[in-house]
Amino acid sequence: MRLIQYVMLLFVFCGRGHALPTMTNETPADPYIFTTDLLPLDPRFLPPLANGLLGWRVYGGIMHMGGVYNGEGGDCHRANLPCPLAVRMDLDEVEKAGRLQHSYSLDTHTGIFTHSLRTVSVIASQSLYTHRHHPNLLVMEVLLVRQGTSQEPITIKMDSRFTPQSDDIVFHSEPDYKGASYIQGHTTMAEVPGGICPSVHIIWTPITPSLTLLPDQAQSRWGFVVAVAGSQDSVQAHYDTALELMANGNLRPSHLRAWEELWAGSTLELTGPDNLSRALIGCMFYLLSAFPSLHEAPGHFGGVSPGGLSNGGSGQDYWGHVFWDQDTWMYPSIGLFYPQLARAVLEYRVRTVDGAKDNAEKQGYKGLKFPWESAVSGREVCPEDIYGQQEIHINGDVTLAFQHYLYLTEDMSMFTEGRGSEVIWGVADYWVSRVTWSAEEQNYHILGVMPPDEYYYNVNNSVYTNTVAKFSLEFAVELAALLKYPAPQEWQQVADKIKIPFDQKQKYHPEYDGYKKGQFVKQADTVMLGYPLGLPMTPEVRRNDLEFYEAVTDPGGPAMTWGMFAVGWLELGEVEKAGHLLQKCFKNIQGPFQVWSESSDGSGAVNFLTGMGGFLQAVLFGYTGFRVQKDCLAFAPSIPEDITQLCIRGVSYLGNKMDWLVRGQEVYIILREGAKHAGNTKPCALQVVLKNSGTKIPLIPGKPVTFPRESGMICKVDRALSCWPM
Ligand SMILES: *[C@@H]1O[C@H](CO)[C@@H](O)[C@H](O)[C@H]1NC(C)=O
Ligand SMILES: *[C@@H]1O[C@H](CO)[C@@H](O)[C@H](O)[C@H]1NC(C)=O
Repeated sequence: MRLIQYVMLLFVFCGRGHALPTMTNETPADPYIFTTDLLPLDPRFLPPLANGLLGWRVYGGIMHMGGVYNGEGGDCHRANLPCPLAVRMDLDEVEKAGRLQHSYSLDTHTGIFTHSLRTVSVIASQSLYTHRHHPNLLVMEVLLVRQGTSQEPITIKMDSRFTPQSDDIVFHSEPDYKGASYIQGHTTMAEVPGGICPSVHIIWTPITPSLTLLPDQAQSRWGFVVAVAGSQDSVQAHYDTALELMANGNLRPSHLRAWEELWAGSTLELTGPDNLSRALIGCMFYLLSAFPSLHEAPGHFGGVSPGGLSNGGSGQDYWGHVFWDQDTWMYPSIGLFYPQLARAVLEYRVRTVDGAKDNAEKQGYKGLKFPWESAVSGREVCPEDIYGQQEIHINGDVTLAFQHYLYLTEDMSMFTEGRGSEVIWGVADYWVSRVTWSAEEQNYHILGVMPPDEYYYNVNNSVYTNTVAKFSLEFAVELAALLKYPAPQEWQQVADKIKIPFDQKQKYHPEYDGYKKGQFVKQADTVMLGYPLGLPMTPEVRRNDLEFYEAVTDPGGPAMTWGMFAVGWLELGEVEKAGHLLQKCFKNIQGPFQVWSESSDGSGAVNFLTGMGGFLQAVLFGYTGFRVQKDCLAFAPSIPEDITQLCIRGVSYLGNKMDWLVRGQEVYIILREGAKHAGNTKPCALQVVLKNSGTKIPLIPGKPVTFPRESGMICKVDRALSCWPM
């Protein structure tokens, strides 16, 4: 009985995004569809549409392509490309007379933005999307459907802002290709002297200034595509694909299928406050949009910047550079669902190893120093030296992502052929050369750094930096043992004896040497020792860190902060406090399309994926208590009263995919049958082990299990057995 009920429950609750169980006969509004009659006044809050390769903002005149930057060093920024779809649909005056209604909606099930116009004589809709399966394509479709009985021709205007020019690229016209317009050019300034200036080729279906429904037509449909690529062969091939897909009616369906698949493998839904539901869906949608297609070898993935691909031109949204925001803030929520996309992030870092080596040398140290701000080469591209010089915790943030990947997948190939071990060992060498022995304190110090809290610089022993350094050294030793690599002794020595500042009297972690309790801080810093770093400490110390720092954290600071505090309070079982902190994040959500701004007053970077990543982690790791550990995925679910159910579908662990449901005092898990995994043969046999009772429950594909809501872990049935090809 229970099992059947449960299967039904999972099916109803998790089966399809919008099929939330409801007690009334009214159909609740689909939380995946963001609709408005009125566009936000600030165009920065129009919805960004991206697919990991191309990104633009609805109606915007410019778009960007992953990895295409213009400008040298600190000037390097995403190259603006003109977007032929910068077109707004309108009616001519005659049609406007007939009771006009507008509506704009972003359907996050499908990634399609639609503007609909309705009068007595016509329904017109303009749909825009960045293709999810074929990432080199952008699409616009227009549909006119005659209403009533009139036989008049009906004309709509297509007001275009497009000019085939850019400040970053000198475009040249090429002869039309199969009736489509074609321009190409390359950026004007390479990231490093003598470096490559990437080429961009754009082919697009010309868009006429108006479209007309003829007197004998009940309806008509038009399709326009834009293909963008790095060479003539490639752009023509992509345009050909688009024409072929259009001819056989598969352009939109292939896009829809790709989004459907993506959501099916990574769903986060709850029954609770609508605003929270919508916010979570928005965060997942924009974050998924920033990552590559599941169908592509992600060889050219250019990393994720704080504002994503839609933003980041010269002087904006951190120039489109890649920061720790990617590895620490966005990656964990994506990596929990898609090892393949997690690996794309790691591979991006591997491709920048030469630059990282150069950065370390320039600073006078050994090994690798990942840039505070990264573009393509891995050389430092931060416009201000101090961050690149001092905000060195980035190195440990990068290695932590590799470490979690290994624990979640046991995919050693990432570390061997994938060169991940070079990253880990290079960073370990850097730390060893970067520390100073303190004869007085008999431990290692890291002097002259800027902590994550950027209100301070030139400080000694930032507690976050030293802790992340310690953990990355320990991981280097662990990985070396796995790969039978002779680890230098210093790695372990430094890890063992690096200073982790601690105030014995007040039982808390000072942010750095000499930090006075009560000093103002910019953002989550020391509280991150608990999560994501997982530094062991007593609940008392954890509480003190949370309380002391919460009181002095700048309310105007960046959006990701409160999520980290929320995770901390959830660890301590303070569910209400956590909920209160999450409410603070709503101030950063701007307008109907759930676009985040970096600061709560709407300023700063937009489509602020970093903040979304922090918010998602508060739920994905906070409410579930998920912790990625060496031999297990630990959990400790705890949800507030106003959330009656929390459903997470597609959690990936050791080659398996699991669906989770936390409902009242119970937890349900089902292991999916036949989960496929890129490059790996068989998934590991898993079990649930409950903490208090020690109860072991095997997880058998397709067979749901349920247990009371308490802490435990998912681990291999036979821990000694490696299920993965080494
Ligand atoms: C979100 O919704 C809940 C419940 O309806 C409400 O109490 C809360 O104030 C809302 N939060 C914001 C920021 O609007
Ligand atoms: C950092 O340590 C160095 C070396 O011990 C010392 O000279 C310097 O004053 C310290 N800086 C701060 C801000 O305490």
